[in-house]
Amino acid sequence: MKYLIIYAHPNPKSFNHAIKEIVEEKLSKAGNSFQTRDLYGIGFNPELSANDFVTWKQGKAPVDIKREQDYIRNSDTLIFIHPIWWFNMPAILKGYIDRVFSYGFAYAVNENGPYGLLTEKKVILINTTGGAEENYVKYGYKEALRKTIEEGTFGFCGMKVIMQKYFYAVPSVTDQAREKMLEELKGISL
Ligand SMILES: Cc1cc2nc3c(=O)[nH]c(=O)nc-3n(C[C@H](O)[C@H](O)[C@H](O)COP(=O)(O)O)c2cc1C
Repeated sequence: MKYLIIYAHPNPKSFNHAIKEIVEEKLSKAGNSFQTRDLYGIGFNPELSANDFVTWKQGKAPVDIKREQDYIRNSDTLIFIHPIWWFNMPAILKGYIDRVFSYGFAYAVNENGPYGLLTEKKVILINTTGGAEENYVKYGYKEALRKTIEEGTFGFCGMKVIMQKYFYAVPSVTDQAREKMLEELKGISL
């Protein structure tokens, strides 16, 4: 199994960074091959520009996008690790989706409408929140995120979300509770 970790957090001291390190360690120990795209670390440009549209029209992909698409082509399972910001993914990751999951690569359209092209790819989502789980359920945020991210984005491209894991209320729980979350992650099979 070939994994691609797509990681979106600017702070190397963050909880998300600790998640990324544990996931990398788990994959290594299990003998899986993986690569990590740290979107802030590589300075990924998230802006879908007018020039991108011109390049697409010429039947080509911008160089930085082709590189990211090759990483995806080369992997079976994509693991996205990111916090929830404004009930969505961080803007850098949203821009990655805008630019990398392009027409002709991630989806196409025929007489029956749009269809996904990444049907062989599996997706694992690991997310952290500031909000408590009970509020995510009570106010429908969890379902809204499932609809827009799991169905509306990855499902649209034909990808199968095989796992979605939230670690809730990360900034407001105790250090021990955060440690427990990381221990739980170590026990989850990817
Ligand atoms: C710009 C920004 C927007 C945020 N928006 C939300 C939000 O919409 N819902 C939520 O539950 N938490 C929100 N948070 C809190 C983060 O999700 C939380 O701090 C993060 O998941 C904790 O992980 P970290 O320590 O790795 O950053 C936001 C934080 C930031 C910085």
